[in-house]
This record gives sequence, structure tokens and C-alpha cells, in this order.
Amino acid sequence: MNVLGIVGSPRKDGNTQIMVEEVLSTTREAGAETDIYLVYDKNIQGCDGCHSCAQNKGICKIKDDMQALYKKMEWADAIVLGSPVYFNYVTAQAKAVIDRTFCYLFSRKLTGKVAAPVLSLRRIGAGQTRVQLYGWFLSQGMVPVRGAVGYGPEKGEVRKGVGGGINITAMEECRNTGKEIIDWFKKLGVK
Ligand SMILES: Cc1cc2nc3c(=O)[nH]c(=O)nc-3n(C[C@H](O)[C@H](O)[C@H](O)COP(=O)(O)O)c2cc1C
Repeated sequence: MNVLGIVGSPRKDGNTQIMVEEVLSTTREAGAETDIYLVYDKNIQGCDGCHSCAQNKGICKIKDDMQALYKKMEWADAIVLGSPVYFNYVTAQAKAVIDRTFCYLFSRKLTGKVAAPVLSLRRIGAGQTRVQLYGWFLSQGMVPVRGAVGYGPEKGEVRKGVGGGINITAMEECRNTGKEIIDWFKKLGVK
């Protein structure tokens, strides 16, 4: 049971990272191995639309930090994609990661992996941003779980923030997301 958390925030130690870490620690308690990837200090270009991956067994020719992230994504049985909401969508950094998985449409290497959205935000845009992430998961043939939403205006405030559901804190939603991932591993027979 390998779980990769990707933190699509441009700032370190922010609300998204706190939330993704909470999801990962819950899966570790159930025996999963975890890894976390922070994009804030990485060089990940957007997809340049060259389509060479279509002829090249689904391999992307852009030599940047995404190459290391591809290896981590392939290692994972579940991917937790975390992003702050920026103007009602994921961050540019998270979208670059998403677009660079165009190559996986040819290799199908993400198909069947469990996928969880994790979003932090001040107030507006959780619903549509979550749908944006579900759209990516479904395009890749991944198995989406509900995921977590956390309201935390300033850095670190998500620790005390509410979640997206009724009468639930952001941190409780993160722990529930970790449990959902483990439940799906059991249903899918992931060891
Ligand atoms: C450029 C920018 C755009 C933002 N847009 C939104 C938004 O549309 N809706 C919202 O509720 N919060 C918005 N926020 C607030 C962040 O989503 C929020 O502070 C989030 O918790 C930051 O996560 P982080 O600490 O992981 O970076 C925006 C912040 C920035 C810097």
C-alpha cells in the first residue's frame, strides 16, 4: 500500500501541506508506506503539446523535475493531490502537474490507482475545484474518493478550520480521507 501526496501550493508548510500530511499519516497508521512531494521549489513546466509521448510509449520528453515525480506516481497505489484554491481553480503549479500526465493517456500507468482531492481555501470555490480534480482522475481511469476540503485563510489556520462537510473539521476530513483510501485498497485488493 503506497500512498503519494503531492502538495500543489507555491508555499511550504502551508494549509495544503498540513492537510496532505494528515491524510498520509492516517494511511501510515493502517500500514501504508507514504511519500510527499512539494512543488513549491520544483521546476515543472506545463505540457507543450508536442504529442511525442503518443509515439514514444507514453514517455514525456521534457527533462525537468516532473521526471522524478513520474517515478513517484508510478510507485503509488494512491495519489493524494492537494492544492489551494486560486481564483476558483487549482494553482498553476498543480495544473502543470496535471497537464504533464497527458503521456499517461497512452501508457495508462495511472489507471486503477486510488485518487483523493485535498483542497484548502479561504472561502469560495471548493466545489468547482474539486470537480476539476475529479475530471482529471476520471480522464486517467483512476478511482476517486471524496477527499477533503479545509477552510484556513492564513497559513496554518486550517488546523483549526472547518471542513467542507456538515459538523466536521478540516483535520477530521483529512483523517476520513486517509481511511477512505485504505478502505478502497481493501476493496481493490491492494497489499
Ligand atoms: C492568488 C490567490 C488566489 C486565491 N484564490 C482564492 C479563491 O478563489 N477562493 C478562496 O477561497 N481562497 C483563495 N485564496 C486563498 C487560498 O486558497 C488559501 O489561503 C489557502 O489556504 C492557501 O493554501 P496554502 O497555505 O497551502 O498555500 C487565494 C490565494 C491566492 C494567493
